[in-house]
Amino acid sequence: MLNFTYCNPTKIVFGKGAIAKINELIISDAKVLLTYGGGSIKKNGVYRQVKAALKKRMVVEFGGIEPNPAYETLVKAVRLGRKKKIDFILAVGGGSVLDGSKFIAAAIPYKNKNLWEIVAKRGQTVKSAVPLGTVLTLPATGSEMNAFGVISKLSTAEKLAFGSPLCYPKFSILDPQTTYSLDKKQLRNGIVDAFVHVAEQYATIDVSTPLQDRYAESIFKTLIDIAPAVMSPVRNGPPFAAVGHHKCPVSNGMSGKKNYDIRATFMWTATQALCGLLSCGVIGDWSTHGIGHEITAFFGLAHAETLAVVLPALWKYEINNKAGKLAMLAQNVWGVKKGTKKQKAAAAIKRTVEFFNSLDMPTSLKDYNITGKDIEKVVDRFARRGVSFGENGDIDAKAVRKILKLCL
Ligand code: NZQ
Ligand code: ZN
Repeated sequence: MLNFTYCNPTKIVFGKGAIAKINELIISDAKVLLTYGGGSIKKNGVYRQVKAALKKRMVVEFGGIEPNPAYETLVKAVRLGRKKKIDFILAVGGGSVLDGSKFIAAAIPYKNKNLWEIVAKRGQTVKSAVPLGTVLTLPATGSEMNAFGVISKLSTAEKLAFGSPLCYPKFSILDPQTTYSLDKKQLRNGIVDAFVHVAEQYATIDVSTPLQDRYAESIFKTLIDIAPAVMSPVRNGPPFAAVGHHKCPVSNGMSGKKNYDIRATFMWTATQALCGLLSCGVIGDWSTHGIGHEITAFFGLAHAETLAVVLPALWKYEINNKAGKLAMLAQNVWGVKKGTKKQKAAAAIKRTVEFFNSLDMPTSLKDYNITGKDIEKVVDRFARRGVSFGENGDIDAKAVRKILKLCL
């Protein structure tokens, strides 16, 4: 196990009616910047609950933060926050609103005029931040309990992650009932994103971390178990038994859009997948995310859509390096008992693709009409940046080309 320091200061307030607790979590004389996305919170009643909980505090609103939050939009919020001298940010929405609000929090007190520097330097230049709280409405990213944000710059087609310990939310409110209004694609994307977060921290080099491995496997299994019930009744396609997994013990036949326990499990599982605990003492990969961000930046696919395409291709490309952990995944998560290490590793890839497809999630770039010629844009970007990803630092531009060819 590698050395590590772990500190996660975010207070989680979980459950039915938790939004009303905002009143106890923000000091009464705070001037609050309330940030949100394109309007889902106004349709599903979350906005009304938040406003009621904020009581008589001074509130300034900034809506319109888009999926894959744009730097160009966020700088407008920074200007507003500075002008109104706000002293707390309350972000209400999915990962994009939370990430965008972390950027706003770091940018308001930022001394340099060039705010993109916060992202370009990956958060290392952040010296202070406005305190931030969140109300999460979409289980997926883990942003509610981590220090990261992913920001897009439309003018240059860039999408980069930044992080700072100052960007951990002070609190995050997780009421599973807020997820009832999510559509099929958003649910599917959330399951896949959480699954891939675990994969990035698990399917790497074995450095003797059995506790972290079993914990990761529990998260994989829980996601697989609850997926059909989470997707029901909006899910199309064959019953889940068709991909060979055992019946979901949690759902136990209780499918349905308003199944509270299913949504509660989904919400907490997605949070756990990227709150930092799984990465303690292990070597991370994160090349699927690195390549995926470029695919979103150039071609506009949703974050999880890129991951479902890249992960299986990356695993095929890296099958020799990752054989040990992939075989462990096959055995402990997918129940594959027979075969050599390499055969089991191949089975893990196959089962994972089947799982994604069972959620109606495509796993090929062809499904998005992206061709061999198009992928050169992504390769070019990696070549120009000169960065390498992966647990062995071997995912450079040449490797990215080979991986993307496997995605076609
Ligand atoms: O904008 P509104 O109107 O709120 O609608 C959103 C948006 O259109 C909608 N939505 C959210 N909650 C809803 C809802 N619709 C109905 N009912 C609800 N309860 O869902 C759409 C997508 O929202 P978005 O926030 O973009 O999705 P997600 O949570 O998947 O976030 C994706 C972003 O997070 C980044 C991704 O790269 C992407 O930019 N990530 C952030 C990470 C982090 N901070 O640690 C890690 C991840 O790997 C990821 O990179
Ligand atoms: Zn992700």
